[in-house]
Amino acid sequence: MNPKVVIGIAATVTLAVGIGVGILLGHFVTAPATAGSGKPTASAPTAPPSYLDAIKEADASISGKLINGIVAENIRSNLMYLSNKSHVAGSPVSKEQAEWVRDNWLAQGLDSAKIVTYQVLLSYPPDYEDPKQNTIQLLNAAGDAEHTTQEREPPLEPGNDNPVADNDILAPFNAYSADGEIEGDLVYVNYGRVEDFQELERVLSIDVTGKICIARYAKIYRGDKATNAEKAGCIGLILYSDPKDYAVEGAAVYPDGIYLPGTGTQRGSLMLGSGDPRTPGYPAVESAYRVPLSNVTGLPSIPVHPIGYNDAAVFLSIMGGDEVTAEWAGNLPGVTYRYGPGFNASNVDKKVKMNIYNENRMATAYNVIGTIKGSVEPDRYVIIGNHRDAWGYGAIDPSSGTACLMEMSRVIGQLVKDGWRPRRTIMFGSWGAEEYGLIGSNEWVEEYAKNLGARTVAYLNQDIAVKGTFVLEIAGTPNLYNAIYSAARKVADPDPKLSQTVYDTWKERDLVGNTVDGHPHIGTLGSGSDYAPFLQVVGISAADFTYTYDKKTILISGYPMYHSVYETFKLVDMYYDPGFPYHRAITQLVSELARNLADSVVLPMDVAVYAEHVQEYYVSLREGSVGKKMIAEGIMFDDMQSAVNNLTDAANKFKAKVESVDKTDVLMVRMLNDQMTLFERAFSDPQGLPDRPFVRHIVFAPSSRDNYASDKFPGIVDAMFDIENNPDPEKWNFVKKQLSIVIYTIQSAASVLMEVA
Ligand SMILES: *[C@@H]1O[C@H](CO)[C@@H](O)[C@H](O)[C@H]1NC(C)=O
Ligand SMILES: *[C@@H]1O[C@H](CO)[C@@H](O)[C@H](O)[C@H]1NC(C)=O
Ligand SMILES: *[C@@H]1O[C@H](CO)[C@@H](O)[C@H](O)[C@H]1NC(C)=O
Ligand SMILES: *[C@@H]1O[C@H](CO)[C@@H](O)[C@H](O)[C@H]1NC(C)=O
Ligand SMILES: [Zn+2]
Repeated sequence: MNPKVVIGIAATVTLAVGIGVGILLGHFVTAPATAGSGKPTASAPTAPPSYLDAIKEADASISGKLINGIVAENIRSNLMYLSNKSHVAGSPVSKEQAEWVRDNWLAQGLDSAKIVTYQVLLSYPPDYEDPKQNTIQLLNAAGDAEHTTQEREPPLEPGNDNPVADNDILAPFNAYSADGEIEGDLVYVNYGRVEDFQELERVLSIDVTGKICIARYAKIYRGDKATNAEKAGCIGLILYSDPKDYAVEGAAVYPDGIYLPGTGTQRGSLMLGSGDPRTPGYPAVESAYRVPLSNVTGLPSIPVHPIGYNDAAVFLSIMGGDEVTAEWAGNLPGVTYRYGPGFNASNVDKKVKMNIYNENRMATAYNVIGTIKGSVEPDRYVIIGNHRDAWGYGAIDPSSGTACLMEMSRVIGQLVKDGWRPRRTIMFGSWGAEEYGLIGSNEWVEEYAKNLGARTVAYLNQDIAVKGTFVLEIAGTPNLYNAIYSAARKVADPDPKLSQTVYDTWKERDLVGNTVDGHPHIGTLGSGSDYAPFLQVVGISAADFTYTYDKKTILISGYPMYHSVYETFKLVDMYYDPGFPYHRAITQLVSELARNLADSVVLPMDVAVYAEHVQEYYVSLREGSVGKKMIAEGIMFDDMQSAVNNLTDAANKFKAKVESVDKTDVLMVRMLNDQMTLFERAFSDPQGLPDRPFVRHIVFAPSSRDNYASDKFPGIVDAMFDIENNPDPEKWNFVKKQLSIVIYTIQSAASVLMEVA
């Protein structure tokens, strides 16, 4: 965003709408007509809207034009460009692609498009030419290396002109790992979850202190694995992808299919929390105070490094100790999985050595912000975004989403060129440095928290667009559910044989099970992508959209090529979505949803559905194991029940008011819309969750044990988890405090829906 524009809007926004909505639009006259490049941009409206404009219903023909305007072949060619080169955060290609996004947005007819940069702490492995590369070695008794892990993933199609033989691509590494050369015995720690380490310690009496631990990827965020390993006393952590989690027996691996070959390696960050680690809570602007490097928190202090399963087999096949249980065993052919510590009798003198030389250094995160100003309520924003940075070619994560985002902006821009303009402002965000810890989006949200908190209706995230074509996988805040369903009902299923809408297919194939109202399931948001700062830092309603595979029959832990060098254009073009119809469908869905949010006189946000879900989460909490233990301790749920009932009651009354509002009453419509927009903020606690000051949503937050997953009532869940691990009677007071915060917050949410006076 152009700061001048922000100030312009701030100065002119006033709630004195009664005299005429025109007052709101005064800033258009003064808004700068040029974007960052100095090039003139398409002209935004200069005349204030009339009263008739303000009460005019959305043009019903736009929805069809938008949906039909999305062209699959354009998404394909966007992806061809975006995944042509490795584009990791902070790199010259990252900047080049940011400029491409900006220039395209300007050409597409957006009113402005601007690159916004932040200087932040990133992490990189040694350069290609550096003699010291990251490796893990098997040392014999004499200290000689019997095996050294691959430094880079080899190209799998030599002779082909595929881009995989590329020196620009970073070697596999885990961002923010500590560096060091360490030697020790190996212990197998399964997925490296809290319960895995507990099993080792309590059930198996295996002490990992001073050991190098090896964990398989999957189940939880890798940064949580690193934290658990460090807390347990491991001096280093090796992460590897087991075929059990990323391949299917007998099914073809890349380049012949979508499953992970033995050389494929998952890169990824280890950061806990989100945003630039040197400026927690504040934007990484030039004037920002930066925590000295030695004082940065949330980064591991042990070396952590990822390898593929060919390399992992060398170590795992000779381990000593007892054979693991069936749940712990992976699927490496010919390997009997053992806990260790150390190797078996024939290899007992051998050691493992990790040689890790990553470096944390300052680099630039490039965001691009594009804007189409609203015709009637320019001070209300619907934001659609995705990150742009990838660990490699990123053809799925995130470029599939960016390819869609660029087609969405093209069609919306074309409608604007043709004379339409949304009622509210539509902003597009292309975030930098997401892979490192949602950094670009987080810094921008921090910089404009006051503006965004006052004005943003919703944030729609489109990261991985297609990681399968079986069914939609959508997560979001419940007030958006109905609007999502209605958009999904307008989009034809890409499979012509089905001749139904994507909603119908979604409902039939729902992986979780339909809701009590007979709708397909929508999940809750954790911290897997850039929606998290919007929801957690400010309290903005948000949703996230993906097509996924049939998780009921394909028992893998994620899409196999995730963050490996083999995540190429070919993978998507040949195997995932030939012809790109699923990319097209999800783009249609998100575009239509954005249009509805930006263009409807009365916002299509449903607080009653939100309340219904809070009721549901409350009942699961009370009747689940956590609630039972609290009740056994004499903690009563009566007040929470009362707050939840009050919320339901207030939400139902509010909904009735919305449904019967006189749409020609501009002030009343604006008042109800504002209450709907700000409703989400009521769930935000400025103090944050315990030990997580910038994670503020009291109903949903990323789980403390798995950043990717979402907990409901995280404050209570965490306090109870803590008690189970350390039953100290004092800790019950902490649980009581968390419960009272939840009660207060839910009651607050109810009260923001009630009459003002
Ligand atoms: C991919 O990169 C190559 C080499 O830089 C370039 O010649 C080619 O035009 C690029 N393709 C696309 C689709 O951008
Ligand atoms: C950095 O950490 C050290 C050790 O905890 C502490 O003594 C020092 O005050 C910290 N410095 C800053 C600037 O935070
Ligand atoms: C150690 O493991 C290797 C590889 O599985 C095996 O061939 C060897 O027999 C094992 N030695 C002992 C003593 O179990
Ligand atoms: C629910 O509303 C009733 C009626 O206004 C009020 O007496 C009660 O205190 C509220 N419950 C909570 C938990 O605040
Ligand atoms: Zn992503």
